[in-house]
Amino acid sequence: MCGIIGYIGKKEASPILISGLRRLEYRGYDSAGVSVWNGRDLVNVKRTGRISVLSDAIDEKRPVGSLGIAHTRWATHGAPSEENAHPHSDCSGKVAVVHNGIIENFVSLKKSLLSEGHKFISETDTEVIAHMIEKYMKVEDFESAVVSTLKLLEGAYGLVAISADEPDKIIVAKKGSPLVIGIGDGEYFVASDTSAILDHTKNVIYLDDGEVGVVESGGYRVFNLHDNSVADKMIEEVSANMDAIEKGGFDTFMLKEIFEQPESIVNAMRGHITEGGSVVKFGGLEGHEKRLSEINRVIIVACGTSFHAGLVARWMMEELVKIPVEVEYASEFRYRNPIVDENCFVIAISQSGETADTLAALKLAKERGAFTYGVCNVVGSSIARAVDAGAYLHAGPEISVASTKAFTSQITVLALLSVYFAQQFGKINKNEAHKILSHLEQIPNKVKEYLENVKDVEEIAKEFYNATNILYLGRGANFPVALEGALKMKELSYIHAEGCPAAEMKHGPIALIDKEMPVIFIATKDSTYDKIVSNIQEVKARGGRVIAIATVGDNYLETLVEHVIYVPETIEIFSPLLNVIPMQLLAYYITTMKGHDVDKPRNLAKSVTVE
Ligand code: G6P
Repeated sequence: MCGIIGYIGKKEASPILISGLRRLEYRGYDSAGVSVWNGRDLVNVKRTGRISVLSDAIDEKRPVGSLGIAHTRWATHGAPSEENAHPHSDCSGKVAVVHNGIIENFVSLKKSLLSEGHKFISETDTEVIAHMIEKYMKVEDFESAVVSTLKLLEGAYGLVAISADEPDKIIVAKKGSPLVIGIGDGEYFVASDTSAILDHTKNVIYLDDGEVGVVESGGYRVFNLHDNSVADKMIEEVSANMDAIEKGGFDTFMLKEIFEQPESIVNAMRGHITEGGSVVKFGGLEGHEKRLSEINRVIIVACGTSFHAGLVARWMMEELVKIPVEVEYASEFRYRNPIVDENCFVIAISQSGETADTLAALKLAKERGAFTYGVCNVVGSSIARAVDAGAYLHAGPEISVASTKAFTSQITVLALLSVYFAQQFGKINKNEAHKILSHLEQIPNKVKEYLENVKDVEEIAKEFYNATNILYLGRGANFPVALEGALKMKELSYIHAEGCPAAEMKHGPIALIDKEMPVIFIATKDSTYDKIVSNIQEVKARGGRVIAIATVGDNYLETLVEHVIYVPETIEIFSPLLNVIPMQLLAYYITTMKGHDVDKPRNLAKSVTVE
């Protein structure tokens, strides 16, 4: 998501920091900053926008010194602004920190720091870290103060800190977010990602979770945060290939993003599940409880893949909250005269937060008095700013035009929102919520397990990549997955693909079926399983070639169809989170076999800011 680089040595730090930030820009950016020790003070320079803007500002301010840290931000807390850009400082300006990750308990930490008189200038979770270090440095040295601070942080971090009181060292720490130390000749680098430092050194050590590193111009040491034991770290040589590094070793951003899903789903859940896994919280909805108690209808507006996430959400909400839910294409909603009033909860789902139709639909709902809620990935985006409240996906930048990880993150947030509403409206008790949430919490590992063992999809792609039409069929919670599978296939491979409720097939699409036609059924074990098996028989009877997505252990379907792709078992409401993964992979493999650019399909845009 965000990028970190730091330098300690004999050269001028600023140019090294800027070139490192440029190398990290592909990870997403909305603002950036540096903090350099000039022999007297820590000089901070921060700007919104691209690294080139920061670079020009640094040319003007010329902070000269050989110790510095820098950060390129992709916002998670607070809109992109100079105040929210890293590095963050304490009250005295003597501490500077940069941080990747999310500090989940920052609200309570901030509260107590405020009560002790600390002054905050940003909305970020990171700023609390600088103030905590300041607080502990009143009685401890810099290193001990960082350790005392780390022990109180909940959540994830890749953290780098410097202090004007001990300007001969950089302190780094890792929990959940990557951090490396680069070893040069009489100089050291720290970074969130080796790509930032490869121009200077290929020798790195990778910090593990729970480790703290102290880096000085004469050497470094790493120790365990909890028992203080020295960590014996191996120096590894990085084989340099910038393209591969940006894509995390994958051939394309799309494949990288598909494989990021175990992590992005966890990030979507972060901070929402509390009280030992039995209560869901949404910070943005706190204080709105009275208004929410008057809600009698939910309307979801979205486009493209986000619309499909909305259809899954309808299923989950009707199931758990038992409230009427409508899902509308934003482009249609805005040009109708929709029945919306102040008892409506209108959810705008948008990865980019900039889709023009979704934004317009949202504004219309707001004008008519609805409570508006945003589910966006890009922090500070137009939709995120226009809503009454909202939740971010924290999925990291999605670069491939075809949406993959944002879809599963959207479903995850909407699943949590469904449990939240069910609890608010007294439809489920804590025990029931705990049961449901434990299934959700198992999803990332199940996705991981599936992705680690996947081999069948590529074989199936080889057989079908010359198809001219593909039909996707599903029912219930998985009808939207059929739509999403077809969308992925057509937008990437340019093969005509259609998604349809399996029973609707009889009313038209069945006419297309012949022995050439691949038909993909989402047929995992759920309440409509027997019905979908009958639909499979109907296709088989007409010579169609069937690929079934089935639950591990379901041996029956193998006797009926040509190909079965097995996915791990989960409860029905969360099955879309698993079933969509082979759909994404099938579209990916077929597209690469056809030789098309999988990350940039023709005619499409990642963010559609025109109607
Ligand atoms: C474009 C993208 C899709 C996306 C849709 C909605 O068509 O190519 O991947 O699903 O816009 O975008 P949003 O940012 O609002 O989710």
